[in-house]
Amino acid sequence: MRNLIDTLYDTSNLRDDQLLMLLDEIKSSEDLQYLFDRAVAKKKTHYKDAVYMRGLIEFTNYCKQNCNYCGIRNSNTTVDRYRLDKNAILSCCKEGYQLGYRTFVLQGGEDPYYTDARLVDIIRAIKSQHPDCAITLSIGERSKESYVALKEAGTDRYLLRHETASKALYESLHPNMSFENRRACLYTLRELNYQIGAGFMVGLPNQTNEDLVEDLRFLKSLSPEMIGIGPYIPHDETPLKGAQGGTVEKTLILLALTRLLVPEALLPSTTAMGTLDPNGREKALKAGANVVMPNLSPTDVREKYELYKDKICTGDEAAHCRQCIEGRIKKAGFSVDMGRGDHTKFKMDC
Ligand code: 5AD
Ligand code: FES
Repeated sequence: MRNLIDTLYDTSNLRDDQLLMLLDEIKSSEDLQYLFDRAVAKKKTHYKDAVYMRGLIEFTNYCKQNCNYCGIRNSNTTVDRYRLDKNAILSCCKEGYQLGYRTFVLQGGEDPYYTDARLVDIIRAIKSQHPDCAITLSIGERSKESYVALKEAGTDRYLLRHETASKALYESLHPNMSFENRRACLYTLRELNYQIGAGFMVGLPNQTNEDLVEDLRFLKSLSPEMIGIGPYIPHDETPLKGAQGGTVEKTLILLALTRLLVPEALLPSTTAMGTLDPNGREKALKAGANVVMPNLSPTDVREKYELYKDKICTGDEAAHCRQCIEGRIKKAGFSVDMGRGDHTKFKMDC
């Protein structure tokens, strides 16, 4: 087991059968600790002790899609839907800026209300008020023209998790969506010079270790600047209600393997990890993650953005999360970096 981890550390690669063997067989707490320590050591060679902070603004929970795992899927009629208008988004950014954030992540469902014209207006306004900040969008699949317009307006980065690299599993989870189109969107975003983010969920129903090896292989070949990995957490108002969901430990293994395969990636310690385990986010940092995304959304909409059940921080003010997470990062032995936190390859651009 340790030989494999050492080879992975030294070469940033392994064969598929070796990755599968690691996933199938790594069990002892000593081997797990060894893997996590190597992942943190690798992260340190590129990012030292820094953990980058991003302010997350969940600006719409309307969604035209029907992903079978997601709590805000279109068919869930129990969701209290909301949209933040331009002023509300700008005031979140203003508050975030005062708290020190220099990256804003605007995330939402696939909401047709946000046309290119509306989004361009919002992005331009944020950029003119905060020219030293990076803007990340996470609003799903759009046309190439749309991605061009959003980039020209000032968007720097785009998160679009591939969700799973297994075509069969992808299709079983995403009614009326196309596996190929999702990947095509990622390639288009890359071609347009966005810093791109892909990623997947761990513990999806029927997901095998072979599927997870496909995720790792896909990420290795795409080498996105950002990689979001979190446990799948079931939501009662979805067709997957009652499913088992992913575990913290398995997610940590995948985070660590991803750190070793794509050493310079920006890897968030996700809210989903903090939801499954009160120390889940610290554990993720100690397995190679180097980004946290505290919530900046107004408290009155927080609990309406419920992708999965029992999501943490839904009652907390932005300033509270900022303090809380800073304390957690420091206690875990890392330091908070409030800069834009660009990927090493993009540092020259800003
Ligand atoms: N559990 C965990 N993660 C989820 N996501 C959506 N629904 C769930 C869930 N039930 C993730 C998806 C999406 C990201 C914004 O949140 O991977 O891309
Ligand atoms: Fe929100 Fe800790 S990060 S309360």
